[in-house]
Amino acid sequence: MSVLTEYDGQVALVTGGAGGIGEAVATVLAGAGARVVVADLNGAGARATADRIGGLGVELDVREPDSVAAAVAAAAGLGPIRVLVNSAGVVGGAGPLRSLPLAAFTAVWQVNVAGTFLVTQAVANAMIDHGSGGAIVNISSVGALQPTVGLGHYEATKAAVNALTRSAALELAEFGIRVNAIAPGPVDTPFTRQALADPVARAEWLAKIPLARIASPADLVALVLLLASDQARHLTGAVIPVDGGQSLGGAR
Ligand SMILES: NC(=O)c1ccc[n+]([C@@H]2O[C@H](COP(=O)([O-])OP(=O)(O)OC[C@H]3O[C@@H](n4cnc5c(N)ncnc54)[C@H](O)[C@@H]3O)[C@@H](O)[C@H]2O)c1
Repeated sequence: MSVLTEYDGQVALVTGGAGGIGEAVATVLAGAGARVVVADLNGAGARATADRIGGLGVELDVREPDSVAAAVAAAAGLGPIRVLVNSAGVVGGAGPLRSLPLAAFTAVWQVNVAGTFLVTQAVANAMIDHGSGGAIVNISSVGALQPTVGLGHYEATKAAVNALTRSAALELAEFGIRVNAIAPGPVDTPFTRQALADPVARAEWLAKIPLARIASPADLVALVLLLASDQARHLTGAVIPVDGGQSLGGAR
């Protein structure tokens, strides 16, 4: 049986679905038969993705409880939400911790941590109300384990996402809700495009990756679909690297 055949009619909410990894996940979920709600701060982008894949596009600010409640209600209006993919995220620039403004730290924290918390809370409660379980997949980062100079603020948020993943998995297991995360290394998306265009930065990244390639969103979606499917029914609380071996920390 293929994980691609398992989503017929299931409602899946994908945050950050206007671009990058979220858009790729939304596209493949829709191709697998899910009814996908594409939710993003970029409302026009969310609607454009949704129109392309035959889903529902909604504007969502994951930092705002009212906005989260509205997006979750829109998704639940299509039927019980079975899948949530928390892909909305920001990096918020780069800078050494000793000079990083508190405002920069807080801004990233609000989206990546508070946002993941708020959407997880709202969707988990909707899943519990319906009583048929579900699956949540968070998009973390290899940076949670492997620091890079200048990205400490961002990496701290992803370490927090890993902790939220484990706590939520523990608390939601009794309701048949599984919570897992993937931890990508660098992926070619709008998020990284500027940095990847710099040949020196690109070479430095590649040197850390045993498989010596920068991922594309397509390299991640199969694992997200597996984690969200019933074939992963005994898997919860895991944070799985998809990083070409970067987190091994070895040298070539
Ligand atoms: N690209 C990478 O190298 C990489 C590596 C590891 C992890 N990640 C993580 O993957 C996730 C997706 O990143 P991406 O590379 O697809 O980036 P992206 O910038 O292409 O997509 C992120 C999306 O999140 C949306 N967003 C931002 N703030 C939001 C908010 N407040 N509410 C709702 N939506 C909001 C953006 O509009 C955008 O469409 C992020 O959580 C990121 O931290 C990315």
